[in-house]
Amino acid sequence: MKLILDTADIRKIERYLEYLPVYGVTTNPSIIKKSNPNSFETSMKNIKSLLSKEQSLHIQTVSSDFNAIIREAEYIIDKIGNDTYIKVPVTIEGLKAIKYLKDNSFNVTATAIYNEIQAQLAIGYNVDFLAPYVNRMLNLDTDPFRIISRINSTIVRENKSTEILGASFKNITQVLNAYHAGANYLTVGVDVVDKFLDDKNINYAVEAFASDWKEYYGNQTFDF
Ligand code: E4P
Repeated sequence: MKLILDTADIRKIERYLEYLPVYGVTTNPSIIKKSNPNSFETSMKNIKSLLSKEQSLHIQTVSSDFNAIIREAEYIIDKIGNDTYIKVPVTIEGLKAIKYLKDNSFNVTATAIYNEIQAQLAIGYNVDFLAPYVNRMLNLDTDPFRIISRINSTIVRENKSTEILGASFKNITQVLNAYHAGANYLTVGVDVVDKFLDDKNINYAVEAFASDWKEYYGNQTFDF
């Protein structure tokens, strides 16, 4: 499973990069609002500066018409770097923009995917990533895992290079189910990432090992 961080919180990103196998960072306007930055551009540049060449940064456009989306995409590329993935919601104007961006060699992540047909259309334009909204689909009584599995079959059947980037998660079970349904990449917010290793059984086990060692050898550790 390829983990992406769904946050613009620079402190959290720095911390996670120390111990998690991270493949990139995704943001959207709501995530940026939560992280309360003074400047959008500085915040994105700061995140970018923490990432290696292999780690992708996905930044979302905010406008809803074709021309404005393209202007925003060009701004992102100009300010943050031409390897940035432009996240575009799959709407009518969004699809026009996705077509233009892919024709002009931009990296594109199709987002706000609530149903299979949006995904199928985005695959038609060979987007690099597409982001099905798992928890939001579940809230609408749609089965995101069936949709992910069908999208995955399409990608294999049509020999496409699009990657499924599962998004909108509220718990670890959703993340794992999305992975097993066929989403190779999963973008996960801080509320869920913070739960990854938050299991008291792990702490009990580690404390018991330490206490048995101490009981037997006292305070000495290995004979270095
Ligand atoms: C990903 O990039 C999406 O924008 C994000 O995961 C949506 O998550 P939410 O449903 O928690 O807002």
